[in-house]
Amino acid sequence: MTSGPIGVFDSGVGGLSVARAIRQRLPHEDLLYLADTACVPYGDRPESWIEARSAAIAELLVHRHAKAIVVACNTATAAAVRSLRARFEVPIVAIEPAVKVAAETTRAGVVAVLATTRTLSSENFRRLQGLFGEGIAVFAQPCPGLADRVEAGDLSGPATRGLLEKYVRPAIACGADTIVLGCTHYSFLTGLIAEIAGPHVTIVDPAPAVARQLERRLTETRVIRSVVPISHLDECEPKGTDRFLATGPIEHARRMITELWLADGACRHEVEVEF
Ligand code: SIN
Repeated sequence: MTSGPIGVFDSGVGGLSVARAIRQRLPHEDLLYLADTACVPYGDRPESWIEARSAAIAELLVHRHAKAIVVACNTATAAAVRSLRARFEVPIVAIEPAVKVAAETTRAGVVAVLATTRTLSSENFRRLQGLFGEGIAVFAQPCPGLADRVEAGDLSGPATRGLLEKYVRPAIACGADTIVLGCTHYSFLTGLIAEIAGPHVTIVDPAPAVARQLERRLTETRVIRSVVPISHLDECEPKGTDRFLATGPIEHARRMITELWLADGACRHEVEVEF
């Protein structure tokens, strides 16, 4: 079945950074994005709650004919990816902090991971540290409140900057030269993080790697539509549709999704917002 959409979900609008990478890599695919804005943030919720909520969302996406599901939320991945894979037949592609890439990137041997408390205390994160953290120092920095600033549409105001200074400066003081964005919301703060961290710090965003992994899984399972990169597409050739669902207040979600989705000039698609 090549006709169904790629279902993508996150606790809110942060996963749009992953959806954007997917849109750029797989321009022919239809996207169906669900922002669970009624329940954001997931970061401090119990694991069992996140697991049940993720299953309910995946169920909804499959019901709407999703041929693959992308968990565009590090917190949901840590709590639920195993049970989602056991329960659903469609490919489940998930995001997790890119410790491996960071370990390969750092010259100083010190890597900072910015993420939610739940992600950093998860078994999955301990596993990543065990697998790829040998020989480097991993500075795990929980960032309570930061995803909420993005959800509120505050990408550069004093409150957001204040939180980032509090979270980024200690890592830099410890010698980190590589920062992993361990929460999809933080992608939208990359400029500000870079400004605070300074020019010698590399910021690693796992979103493009998720898009590549999705492409591999769609190819393996023979449900991919096309692999023509967007730069080679004829203007008249049909491209995939982008559809958005949100569980919380409509007007705010509509404004945020429209603003973040159209922020990148490469995303030329019309946005159809459906709630
Ligand atoms: C959150 O909902 O707390 C953040 C989502 C994430 O971890 O990507």
